[in-house]
Amino acid sequence: MIFTVAIDGPAAAGKGTISRAVAERFGFRHLDTGLLYRAVGAMGGDPVEAARRLTPEDLTRGDLRTLEAGQAASRVAVIPEVRAALVEFQRRFARGEGGAVLDGRDIGTVICPEAEVKLYVTASPEVRAHRRWLEVGGDEAQVLAEVRERDARDMGRADAPLRAAEDAVVIDTSAMGIGDAVEAACAIVEAGFSQGG
Ligand code: DC
Repeated sequence: MIFTVAIDGPAAAGKGTISRAVAERFGFRHLDTGLLYRAVGAMGGDPVEAARRLTPEDLTRGDLRTLEAGQAASRVAVIPEVRAALVEFQRRFARGEGGAVLDGRDIGTVICPEAEVKLYVTASPEVRAHRRWLEVGGDEAQVLAEVRERDARDMGRADAPLRAAEDAVVIDTSAMGIGDAVEAACAIVEAGFSQGG
């Protein structure tokens, strides 16, 4: 069986939590594709070279979840050669035997347009910044500014910009608890699965 769930959306919309929960519920493998860009950004040096020699172990570094690593990831992610170097790894993961959940920015549009289920998980910038601030602390206005900056870069880049695929189901988590968002996502995956994809 090959069955891919593509989950895209901006930072701090709830994609990661939803993706992990969907993977666990259905027994699918999960790839957080943001980690690929975070690892490339964190490696320093020439990002294209870093992307070409990236190994699965690089994704286990302890410093990839910080705000700085997210900004660095967003900056290297605009480089077409970096994106190209990461495509094969993601496609192989998506279309390997068994179900797979991939979350990122371009999974439903570029990496796996043939995904059986596509979700676009979003929320207002203010709500996302507030959630991120609860995790990282500091100045909330600064966190909001960074969220907006990252959105602008991810949505505005020429190569594989962040946007919902035409056939994606949009889940807006602005006024939703994470439990309800997970249930909504699982119901959509279940429906796709019982239709045979
Ligand atoms: O999902 P995240 O916050 O870990 O992603 C970090 C950055 O990596 C994001 O701002 C843009 C980039 N990214 C991307 O361009 N394409 C993806 N599929 C995933 C992440």
